[in-house]
Amino acid sequence: MSYQGKFRVWRGDDSGGGLEDFTVEVNEGEVVLDIIHRLQATQTPDLAVRWNCKAGKCGSCSAEINGRPRLLCMTRMSIFEESETITVTPMRTFPIIRDLVTDVSFNYTKAREVPSFAPPKDLAPGEYRMQQVDVERSQEFRKCIECFLCQNTCHVVRDHEENKEAFSGPRFLMRVAELEMHPLDTADRVDQAQDQHGLGLCNITKCCSEVCPEHIHITDNALIPMKERVADRKYDPIVWLGNKLFKR
Ligand code: SF4
Ligand code: F3S
Ligand code: FES
Repeated sequence: MSYQGKFRVWRGDDSGGGLEDFTVEVNEGEVVLDIIHRLQATQTPDLAVRWNCKAGKCGSCSAEINGRPRLLCMTRMSIFEESETITVTPMRTFPIIRDLVTDVSFNYTKAREVPSFAPPKDLAPGEYRMQQVDVERSQEFRKCIECFLCQNTCHVVRDHEENKEAFSGPRFLMRVAELEMHPLDTADRVDQAQDQHGLGLCNITKCCSEVCPEHIHITDNALIPMKERVADRKYDPIVWLGNKLFKR
């Protein structure tokens, strides 16, 4: 069973562009990426789209479908009405390269700013021991496929270029939280999160968690626990006094 679907796709580059209308064949079982590929094969051979696995695992095909950040390869055509016009646009938070492809290097810059795992100096690799409960805690965060849909969605940077320098975004605040919760990490991640990665700018709207294709509880399991640790350190009167007395 197939039908002729209506699509509106953003085309252009960093100098400008706009939405173009297309009618494309849709077959049973297809996802939006299949339609984009059919569009390339039949009508717009130069349409730029980034993809790789077509299995929801490489994190390359992030875009916005009817305004909602999604993976093109994991969005089934069957969730839409046949009569509906489906709009496909590039991620809004990152600079356009061409058509559906954006420059996501902001995220790599932020990734490099997170100091790496710092194990105790007297332990060699192979001597690390930790409880299963701690392994499982960080495993949730390690499901991240780096699609950057959460980074694209977060309102702190979505329409606020000026916040990008101060804010690492949910994906990398989650990385800081993962290291903070790691029982063998010796670095001080609490002040780092607040002072270098902009944790204070997050006001827990949870939009990042809502769009995560891996269903990671970014806000509940990473950002809120980090905020609690910051609050404990900064606002607990006993901890505050201890810091004043012993950290001088
Ligand atoms: Fe994508 Fe989720 Fe990772 Fe964010 S946390 S980059 S939404 S997989
Ligand atoms: Fe942004 Fe997620 Fe916080 S959307 S404001 S990082 S809860
Ligand atoms: Fe790999 Fe979509 S093509 S996640």
